[in-house]
Amino acid sequence: TYPNLAPRPPMGWNDWSYYMCRIDEKTVLDNARALVRTGLADKGYRTVTVDDCWMSKARGSRGELVADPQKFPHGMAYLGRQLHRMGLKFGIYEDVGTLTCEKYPGSLGHFPQDARQFAQWKVDYVKADGCNVPVAAGHTKEETYRDLYRQMSQALRDTGRPITFSVSAPAYFQYDGDSVWHRVIGWSAEVGNLWREGRDVALQQHSPAAKWSSILYNFRYNAKLADLQKPGRWNDPDFLLAGDTGLTREEIQSQMSLWAVMAAPLISSTDIARLSPQAREVLGNKKVIAVDQDALGVQGRVVQQDGGSTVLAKPLKNRDGAIALFNSGDTARTLSVTAAAAGLPDAGSYRLHDLVTGRRTHSDGTIVAPDVPPHSTVLYRVTPG
Ligand code: DGJ
Repeated sequence: TYPNLAPRPPMGWNDWSYYMCRIDEKTVLDNARALVRTGLADKGYRTVTVDDCWMSKARGSRGELVADPQKFPHGMAYLGRQLHRMGLKFGIYEDVGTLTCEKYPGSLGHFPQDARQFAQWKVDYVKADGCNVPVAAGHTKEETYRDLYRQMSQALRDTGRPITFSVSAPAYFQYDGDSVWHRVIGWSAEVGNLWREGRDVALQQHSPAAKWSSILYNFRYNAKLADLQKPGRWNDPDFLLAGDTGLTREEIQSQMSLWAVMAAPLISSTDIARLSPQAREVLGNKKVIAVDQDALGVQGRVVQQDGGSTVLAKPLKNRDGAIALFNSGDTARTLSVTAAAAGLPDAGSYRLHDLVTGRRTHSDGTIVAPDVPPHSTVLYRVTPG
């Protein structure tokens, strides 16, 4: 298996859902500086990943990948140096097929060369997409993907540089049925550290309703994959949208709390320099981040569900538990779950800490979240005794 380079869910920033192909050196570095200035870097958001569209449309004369000279006039090694100087990590995007989704050169046929190039540029994190994969003759789609991701994974290992590896394969099998996802996630967890599954969250330009429904879709999908997660091997339900226009405070908080209880990677994709104080508070909530990054490294599970609400529970170090009570309906509701149903250790009483409002309360066995507004999530850290 690939080295365990992500003992905690990766955290950082990626340009894709906010900027798509409208990226350049200045945009990336402005966001990087803003991560440092806002204190988000200190809180863990340190890996800055340049997604699709950073390359020239053609490889160089030696078959090497070339950065688009207009967008990245000083090249990728320079970008990496600037990020490292700020104490950040450098992430880059490629694709295991012939072309990336936006039709830039893919890695197929060039895995060792590209991996060495990334290592030379001092890349710390690679996201390998799975567009434009030609199914090999005599092989199934799954065998083809598995073989290509194995090759890329081996090439990255062979560089000797520790490069966190994000695999997109499961996203390309999400309509192929449960047993297929299970297998694909199984080998993704061997070749990499985290894997994209579900759909892409909606882009900045999409409507608020589309953004919210994409969050809901990926939440529900990701919640089904809890069995496939192991410490150091993470399900990735895609970017945090806090900061993008149109979502309410409740909605961005819900996404953050739900991603944290599911131990999902926390990767923001927005304009960090223009983050509202509200979005900054949501992304920067240290107690919520601590739930996500907890040392046990376990994805929370759904312990109770009805038409309009879901309760998830995540075991934490020191016998604590994180309980998320999510109202996905359109009217306020009081939600509750018993300590036993939530899998908390048996105890006469429990101390509850609401990680968003800071309120502390007690319970003798039923965890209650009163009057949860629509689309809102209450996240408690629960301590027995
Ligand atoms: C599809 C991926 O899922 C997105 O996150 C992004 O990387 C785009 N491809 C880029 O083309």
